[in-house]
Amino acid sequence: MPKTPAVLLVNIGELVTLRSAVRGPRRGRDLSDLAIVKDAAVLCAGGKIVSAGTGKEAVRDRWVKKNRKNIIEIDCRGRVVLPGFVDSHTHPVFAGPRLVDFEKRILGATYEEIAQAGGGIRSSLEGVRKSSRSVLANKVRDTFFEMQKHGTTTLEAKSGYGLTLESELKSLEAIRAAAGQWPGTVISTFLGAHVVPAEFRGRSQEYVDHVCQSMIPAVAKRKLAQFVDVFCDRGAFSMEETRQVFESASQHELGVRAHVGQLSESRLQGILHFQPASLDHMDFVNDADLPALAQSKTIATLVPGANYFLGLGRYPDARRLIEAGVAVALATDFNPGSSPTLSMPMALSLACTHMKMSPAEAIAAATINGAWALGLAQRKGSVEAGKDADLSIFEATDHREIPYWFGVNRCVLTVVTGMCSGAIT
Ligand code: NIG
Ligand code: FE
Repeated sequence: MPKTPAVLLVNIGELVTLRSAVRGPRRGRDLSDLAIVKDAAVLCAGGKIVSAGTGKEAVRDRWVKKNRKNIIEIDCRGRVVLPGFVDSHTHPVFAGPRLVDFEKRILGATYEEIAQAGGGIRSSLEGVRKSSRSVLANKVRDTFFEMQKHGTTTLEAKSGYGLTLESELKSLEAIRAAAGQWPGTVISTFLGAHVVPAEFRGRSQEYVDHVCQSMIPAVAKRKLAQFVDVFCDRGAFSMEETRQVFESASQHELGVRAHVGQLSESRLQGILHFQPASLDHMDFVNDADLPALAQSKTIATLVPGANYFLGLGRYPDARRLIEAGVAVALATDFNPGSSPTLSMPMALSLACTHMKMSPAEAIAAATINGAWALGLAQRKGSVEAGKDADLSIFEATDHREIPYWFGVNRCVLTVVTGMCSGAIT
């Protein structure tokens, strides 16, 4: 047994373990199998989960009996414990909010109209280009800690608001610096193909060439990202341009993912062979793409915070995807334009009320399937011996309360690789 302090969580009312015999991402009926243990305990040591089971089993454990004095014991007093949330889609590197866009939308303008009039993503570029790396890193770090307060212990963070070689590298370096100051796990994504910046207006192909020939090699050389993302949609990049970016990413041994089907439908057959870890938004998906998607390991990451904040009446059709066997994840899409929320419980609540996912499905989509979307399922997303000791404890006695109480934060404590943050009162 390792010498680092061991932590024993006891008196857990409901322990959502998500352990399962299923080897891949959760699909269909398996998505609602939370494998809850009541009156449970979890023993963590050396940053890993050693055991998870009933409280009675923990008390009888010989190692626990012998080492009781050296174990930090946390009395959960009947509360719900989950695997820490895996927020698999966030854009945390920006300088400030987009309040003009917000007011324009309230007055009736759409996201696309605002972008065409010079607002939208392009209006966030100047702030990032002018900010120092340390200013950005501090903001990103503060965001990570705020996310942790809401139960997130693993996240993906994208660049994409610089869109010059220098400012994209600076953004990814800010993510790296912030990740070094935060106990959770961060996966970085290069999103140079977010939109065509003003200086390349009307020269989309030239910008894509720049992304592929200069930016991706520089990011790969510095090992600043694990994934490359593309905003593949009307007003951003075409499917052909997306394929070019994916080709370059693959040549540089970077994983790929894309924003697809947020504003308009794109057919997916041209990109699935790149084995994207995830395709995100997916508001518009052609029926004919569902079988191939369901047979792939690609996760459909749904981000209802964007639909909510853009004031859309429509949401991604989660039921259709789940029933077709597509593996679905949930994420915040935290960003200043379409989804300024860093709360995973809020995303879960929207998924239940507007996408008709059950609370159980929403929790699995926000944990184990989020881990699959980041290639981390061997370490994250469920409470099983050998996995990282990442847990979140909620002021609730039933897991269904997590999406039920919306707009408030009921996460009282997180354990990140075996270290506690917060205190139960
Ligand atoms: O996921 N769709 C592209 N990217 C973001 C929005 C970025 C922005 O508006 O600043 C999204 O919704
Ligand atoms: Fe996004």
